[in-house]
Amino acid sequence: MEIIAHLAVSLDGRTEAAGPPAMFGGAGDRARMVARRASAGAVLVGGRTFSTWPIPPELRRDWAPEAPLRPTPPTLVVTRQDRLELRPVRRGFVGADASVTFFAPDGFVVPDGLRSIAQVQRSAADPLDAALRAAEAAGCARLLVEGGWGLIRALTARGALDALHLTLCPLCLGGSASPGGPSSGPHPEMDTLRLRLVTAEAEGGAVFLHFVPERSAASATLA
Ligand SMILES: NC(=O)c1ccc[n+]([C@@H]2O[C@H](COP(=O)([O-])OP(=O)(O)OC[C@H]3O[C@@H](n4cnc5c(N)ncnc54)[C@H](OP(=O)(O)O)[C@@H]3O)[C@@H](O)[C@H]2O)c1
Repeated sequence: MEIIAHLAVSLDGRTEAAGPPAMFGGAGDRARMVARRASAGAVLVGGRTFSTWPIPPELRRDWAPEAPLRPTPPTLVVTRQDRLELRPVRRGFVGADASVTFFAPDGFVVPDGLRSIAQVQRSAADPLDAALRAAEAAGCARLLVEGGWGLIRALTARGALDALHLTLCPLCLGGSASPGGPSSGPHPEMDTLRLRLVTAEAEGGAVFLHFVPERSAASATLA
């Protein structure tokens, strides 16, 4: 089984924003994510990622109007916690033939609102190992990891990650990101500095980038 990861990161090294990650990556990032989902047998996410922005089975039209509507492959969530406190952003799971499986400890309680559709594989074993075994056993040829870094680090530590697709977004998200805060809607306002890429060079595996500020509005709307 091939394991690939897709992650968007800002210039100031943040992967968290007030809105969904799919927003701050921009249209090119979303298009690539949709294409990767279409080629994957399952999507794997960390419990913290799922809690912050539960991934709906279809990319929502209001988040990504340019993206084709496609069903998402089964979602596998790994956590070592007994409970996950989800934000109320899981519209799109229930009633959409979504498949969500939690790999969790023995005492795990399925979050409210997902009981009708979620499955749980409880065990005392490491939930990440259990999820990888289950994906293999289900015949998954390609597993798409949608973050976050904690999960990607755990996979690299196992030597299990085959590819990392990183979108470096021309933004400094600053200190305004509040991933645990309430949703500010499909086009969240952020205290963001947007920059424009002038040159990009690659040498010895490093990438040398030159940016200039595009605008420094205190509250830039991400489109
Ligand atoms: N910009 C993007 O593209 C993007 C994509 C995804 C996520 N994010 C953001 O990233 C943040 C979450 O990232 P994160 O790094 O904090 O968390 P994460 O990668 O989502 O969390 C790692 C998760 O894996 C679980 N886990 C289970 N087995 C594990 C193992 N063997 N080793 C390590 N972890 C294991 C951990 O469980 P425990 O919690 O029990 O330790 C934890 O829930 C969120 O704010 C999210 O919005 C951004």
